[in-house]
Order: sequence, then C-alpha cells, then structure tokens
Amino acid sequence: MLSMIAGIDEAGRGPVIGPLVVCSASCRREDEKQLKKLASKDSKQLTPEQRVAAYDKLKGFVTFRWVEVSAMDLNKLMDTMSLNDIEAKVMADLVKKLPDGDTMIDMPDRYAWTFRKRMEKFGVNKFEAEHKADENYPIVAAASICAKIMRDHKIEEIRKATCDFGSGYPGDPKTVAALKDKPSRKLLEPFIRQKWKTLENIKQTRLFDTEEQEKEDAAAGAASRHRRRSPRAARMARIRVRNEGIEIEVPDGSPILPYLWESTSFPQGCEDGSTPICACVIISGEANVNHKTQQEIETLHRAGLPNSWRNRLACMVRVMKGEIEIEY
Ligand code: FES
Repeated sequence: MLSMIAGIDEAGRGPVIGPLVVCSASCRREDEKQLKKLASKDSKQLTPEQRVAAYDKLKGFVTFRWVEVSAMDLNKLMDTMSLNDIEAKVMADLVKKLPDGDTMIDMPDRYAWTFRKRMEKFGVNKFEAEHKADENYPIVAAASICAKIMRDHKIEEIRKATCDFGSGYPGDPKTVAALKDKPSRKLLEPFIRQKWKTLENIKQTRLFDTEEQEKEDAAAGAASRHRRRSPRAARMARIRVRNEGIEIEVPDGSPILPYLWESTSFPQGCEDGSTPICACVIISGEANVNHKTQQEIETLHRAGLPNSWRNRLACMVRVMKGEIEIEY
C-alpha cells in the first residue's frame, strides 16, 4: 500500500457564469484519521464559514493544487472539446503533479470506462474514479472543499467587478434576472459561458413566443386559443437532461444529438453508432423514442451495456413526441 493518498474534485461545472475550478488534495496515509475529522462531509453540505474553517486546518497537513478554467477559456476550448474532455485534461494534468500514491477522482462521466478512456488520452492511467467520491473519501472531500472555496473567491471578485448576479447557476432567479437586464449582462459578458448563453436564447425565444401567443389568444377568444395551441403542442417534443438540469424543446421526430451538443457538454463522437462515446440512459419516456437498430444493440453489447430500453446511443435516438428524460 502506497504511503500517499490523493483526491481530485471540481466546482462550477454547471453554472452559466464564472470559472470551473478543479482541485487536487494529497496527504500522507498516516494523516487519514485527522483528515476524516475535518473532511468527512461533502463540501456542499458545509456552510461557507465551515468550509473556510476546515480548509484552514487542512492546509496544515494536506497539499492543495488547483486549476481555474475561466468562462472565456471554456468558451474557446468548447469549440473543439467537450466539457468532460476539458475536465479530464485538467484532472490528468493535476494527477501528473501528484506524488506517487493512491488517487481517487470524483468523475464527471457517467461510465468509469468512458472516463478512463479520456484520462488515458491525456496520458494518465493510474487512478481510481467514482461518482460521489467526495461523499465517500475524505481526501476527495478535502479537494472538493478547496475547489469550492477557490470558486467562491472568484465569484466574489466577479460580483465586485460587475453586479450582484446571485450564484451564477441557471436555476437562480437572481442570475436569470441579471442576464436579462441589458446593462448587467454587458458587464457580465466576459464571464458568461457561451453554451449556456445559447440555451438562454432558446428559453427567451420560447418566453416571447408564449407572450405573443397569449396576446393573440386573448384577442381571438378562448375557443380559438384551444384550436391554435393544439397543433403547436402536437409538433414539439421535450428532452430533459437530468445531469445538466435542463430542458430542450425540439420538433417531433428530431434526432437528439444536435440538440445535446447545442445545449449541453455532450461528447462528440463517431456519430455512426460504432464507438459508444455517446452512451446515455433513458430515464423516462421510452415509448416516445425510436427503436434500436441492430448495430446499436451490438455496439452497446460490446461496451458491456445490457440490451434494455434504458441504454441507448444518443447518436441513434430520435424523440418522436412528448417528453423524454435522459442522463449521460
Ligand atoms: S457517437 Fe459513436 S456511437 Fe454514437
């Protein structure tokens, strides 16, 4: 058993404003007991004050390193890389700087084999990775604490330089209000993630459409309102992406992949159903998608994924009508 342990985690993957911060934490295995006392909880469950207090003590025996990827850098990088690839690249760079030891990573990918493939692409293969590793491994919780603090500092700096935009997450009404207010948005422009901006534009269009429709309906009366709305509802389907917390409206019968690329950090792949980088899980609405082809079944089988309706290759999925929820 190696004498050093290390953990890696990130903060700020999902917001529309501000940087992504990825952090590594490492310490001697013999300090694990002390580590457990200070970093036994996921940093998300600690108040900001508790996080800072824990971090101050952890610094006494844990070595921290972090990388901040600004929104501007993310915008540039995401022209050619997925967010998962960017994260894997930063994580791989951090692993290379760690002392020899056991490393656990809170992985961004749904499947460990996908994440391992990404990390190998960036020259790293000696690590373990799990979901929610920050809840189960104190050294990953320590990395999570550090990443969150560094991101909070940055958000505070941006707030001071611009305006009060809340948390920067798209679900925060303060963030949405700041993005819709022209002067605030101008100030925030260098700190906005373009991918999310696209999504916001889609949402705004929908909002304006609805207002227009309501005005027309009010003028024409309730009976015509019913007639006009039905064809619109019949034409549009909805994709909910659970791990990104977003919804996308698409015409009935659309392939989902272009919309996932437009609005999420979904990885780019072969697009022909042969290399399953686009594996995803249908959580609900299975009756609203097309059937699998033989090639899709075979590719999923080669990837070790059971042939159930849940496992799909996103590049082969069309949403025919209604709603579906997926995760990747
Ligand atoms: S992108 Fe390769 S199988 Fe879908």
